[in-house]
Amino acid sequence: MTTSSSKKKKKSPSSEPISSTKKGWSAAQSAELYGIDDWGHGYFHVSRQGDVTVRLEDSEDSLDVSLKEIVDGLGDRGTQLPVLLRFRDLLHSRIAELNNSFHKAIKDLNYKGSYRGVYPIKVNQQRQVIEEITEFGKQYHYGLEAGSKPELIAALAHMHDPEAYLICNGYKDEEFIDLALHAQKMGLKVILVLEMPTELTSILARSKAIGIRPNLGVRVRLATRGSGHWQESAGDKSVFGLNAAQVIQVVDSLRDAGYLDCMKMLHYHQGSQIPNIASIREGATEAVRMYCDLVREGAPMGILDMGGGLAVDYDGSHTNFTSSCNYSISEYCADIIEVISSICNKAEIAHPNLISESGRAVVSYYSVLVFNILDVTSVQSSDDEPATPDQPHDQLKNLIEVNRVLCKKNLQECVNDALYYRDQLRAQFFHGNATLRERGLGEAWSWHILTRVSKLITEMDDVPEDLRELSSSLTDFYYGNFSLFQSLPDSWAIDQLFPVMPIHRLTERPRHRAVLADITCDCDGKIDRFIDREDVAKILPLHKFTPGDPYYIAVFLVGAYQETLGDLHNLLGDTHVVGVHIENGRPVYTHEVEGDTVADVLSYVEYDTKELVTRFRSFAELAVSKGNITPRERREVMDLFRDGLSGYTYFES
Ligand SMILES: Cc1ncc(COP(=O)(O)O)c(C=O)c1O
Repeated sequence: MTTSSSKKKKKSPSSEPISSTKKGWSAAQSAELYGIDDWGHGYFHVSRQGDVTVRLEDSEDSLDVSLKEIVDGLGDRGTQLPVLLRFRDLLHSRIAELNNSFHKAIKDLNYKGSYRGVYPIKVNQQRQVIEEITEFGKQYHYGLEAGSKPELIAALAHMHDPEAYLICNGYKDEEFIDLALHAQKMGLKVILVLEMPTELTSILARSKAIGIRPNLGVRVRLATRGSGHWQESAGDKSVFGLNAAQVIQVVDSLRDAGYLDCMKMLHYHQGSQIPNIASIREGATEAVRMYCDLVREGAPMGILDMGGGLAVDYDGSHTNFTSSCNYSISEYCADIIEVISSICNKAEIAHPNLISESGRAVVSYYSVLVFNILDVTSVQSSDDEPATPDQPHDQLKNLIEVNRVLCKKNLQECVNDALYYRDQLRAQFFHGNATLRERGLGEAWSWHILTRVSKLITEMDDVPEDLRELSSSLTDFYYGNFSLFQSLPDSWAIDQLFPVMPIHRLTERPRHRAVLADITCDCDGKIDRFIDREDVAKILPLHKFTPGDPYYIAVFLVGAYQETLGDLHNLLGDTHVVGVHIENGRPVYTHEVEGDTVADVLSYVEYDTKELVTRFRSFAELAVSKGNITPRERREVMDLFRDGLSGYTYFES
């Protein structure tokens, strides 16, 4: 198991420059290049035909279905890209894997308590997700965690299994508490978790009023921090949970009030996406010691809730890098159970029943965003030799000479010279001693030289770091039909990495180094950090884009946190959503939800569609009266305006 914070030093294809000299390319090489077998968890593969496939299962069969065929099938039915595909089979598989891994570890380690997972609604609140989880999770008595009143209301409408837990976290007003207590009275296993000491007074008051003894949990603030991006969720500075002194105060207050028998659960949450198993073991150690002392204080306890944090290996490196994790689900379960049982055994305290609130690990694989490439700008790299004017500027002559003498032996020198002469030409333009045309030609020659250099270094075994950097700076911008802010907010907000790759043409060598730009007009609206086994890659290898030929890119593992955190930047709305699974060995589309229309997103920012039409019509009529357009043109432009309102917010073709 890897414990250092560096990634494995394994040769990483996506950090290598892309050679244009090697002939032939196979689907297997694409699979290796994009690392799909490392992060795909057996769900996603590259077929021999060169498509990405998803492995779907029904009761009897499993079928590798091409994502390209799914997208083409949607196109035939009139559903345009971008689209969010949801695969319920993958969700079911993750729930089964989590539950079975805990059950196996319990059996293997002779653990005396049970395991019941709960799904934290905040991770993906969409109705389809909650329905799938409560339906499929029934066999495991899989419950829900609600962190707010709306989440509690959604949970109460969907989860009626008396054996499953309903964990109530978050700050609770009287209404929240009353609903939870009534649900307990109606037969659900509801646990009200104290997030702050002051909640105790209102919970006890409402319990007395309703005539029920509440099931209480206490969320503790561990001194042990997790690791990775969310490590501040635990530790002294954490905004959540009770510190040791407050926990003792709560115990004393409960004892004084005659309610200590209601204290059933200890809850902790070390933060999301904990990449290092050592931090998980440490957190469990501290928590179980607190648990044992609460039992010694006279609380019945019985349940230990370890919160979320089970990480997803987004980059497939299997390291403790923030986008990865150095453990599997089964290692996670075994390590937790081993830590808890050994401490409880020594303390001679009964093994608690366990709850985990894994969100990301359950829903990430479920959703895949697919979008089409609209355009490419290759502003920098240039294979073709630029023009030579009759009377070249002196600096241009120098650049042309650098290009003439360039060979493998003098690469570094030529790069230095090319950049020097290019900068000299820019300086001369600044002082009025070169024309815009001369400057433009100089830049084109310098890019041509750098492009040649980047190709020559692909043939070298030892490439100096500076030259490697140079090669990765020769990028093409591929414009994708999506909004980073709407569909991948964590990529923008916290630099989260997701696996991204084309879903077809994978028997062709991808020769272009690309950065993906979205269709918002925000300079942050781009993906320029990509997964890589060794590092974070600055480019994504992509195929040549030919206008008119569809080219589809998918972003994988986007089922957790992305949908509801997304925003309406540039008023680009929700994408279409389609559920896909197999029935009788054939993929079927279910649960199609149309994305936002232009009228929808305008209404979110307080525009009224009728008023918009009225205003525009008055303007059009004014244009008619001024003679700027004809009445017929007024009709055409009004039709366009109305069509625009009812259309998709993304690029339509
Ligand atoms: C209290 C609580 N439980 C569970 C989770 C889910 O965490 P994860 O998605 O890492 O499993 C969170 C999210 O941060 C949380 O705050």
